Amino acid sequence: RDKNKEPKVLKARDIPALAHYIKSNECKNIAIMLGAGVSTAAGIPDFRSPKTGLYSNLARLNLPHPEAVFDISFFRNNPVPFYSLAHELYPGKFRPTLTHSFVRLLSEKNLLLKCFTQNIDTLERRAGVPGNKIIEAHGSFATQRCIDCKSEYDDERMKKHVLEKKIPRCDRCKGLIKPDIVFFGEALPAEFIQSIGLLNSADLLIVMGTSLTVHPFASLAEMTPSSCPRVLINLDKVGDFGDQPDDVILLGQCDEVVKQLCQELGWEKELSRLWEKT
Ligand code: APR
Repeated sequence: RDKNKEPKVLKARDIPALAHYIKSNECKNIAIMLGAGVSTAAGIPDFRSPKTGLYSNLARLNLPHPEAVFDISFFRNNPVPFYSLAHELYPGKFRPTLTHSFVRLLSEKNLLLKCFTQNIDTLERRAGVPGNKIIEAHGSFATQRCIDCKSEYDDERMKKHVLEKKIPRCDRCKGLIKPDIVFFGEALPAEFIQSIGLLNSADLLIVMGTSLTVHPFASLAEMTPSSCPRVLINLDKVGDFGDQPDDVILLGQCDEVVKQLCQELGWEKELSRLWEKT
């Protein structure tokens, strides 16, 4: 990439140009990167937004530092903070957003290369994005196992424990049960590592609702080919967006920007049809 050209930090007016590119036959493989910001409209707080973010609201759990709630050694010692958070975040009571339905729409139009998400809320699946198009880089609440003997734990029993604010223990070795969420200190899923190479064939990257602060996920945004334009849809500018001449930065609520983009694409009806079905 030619770094010394004037970066294009463009406002919403660049949506027409983006829509034109998406409809052109140069755009066939769109890579998506999602963060907690796409689920805030579903009622799930993100992590680092001042005041509303989870990390500024965990003080009541008297953690040594906010990220301890997802730290495997802290969890082993004291699983209570995580399980009280799990009670709040557990999938089932949240509905996907327009942004999740937009990812599904890209898949229906055979334009979705892969959706890489950091989110553990499974809203991409709930929106109907095909499972083979989703990489849950930080795992999800969908399955759980013992942190000691690794035996799987039954989904219904897990859901019951979480909703009743009880802490499940392994039938075999009495070890703590933990959802298959990637905690700090744990390796990312093998399928994340195996899918990174896919970014080489992306001809558009759209990053939505993430602060791009957690690696290795954040580094995906620097792995697309120099011919691949990168779009950031976020409340604020993050990562190295703006450093590359063909970066497009669309600041605002992701659902709003997605709605405007779908209007430009002529996909507005299809988007609301998909969202109504969630
Ligand atoms: N529209 C657009 N952007 C939004 C919206 C919204 N409605 N709401 C929040 N944002 C933006 C915030 O401004 C912020 O830049 O989304 C970003 C959310 O950043 P984080 O809270 O840091 O969430 P995320 O980037 O997903 O965190 C990454 O940190 O603790 C770990 O494992 C956890 O997966 C998580 C990772």
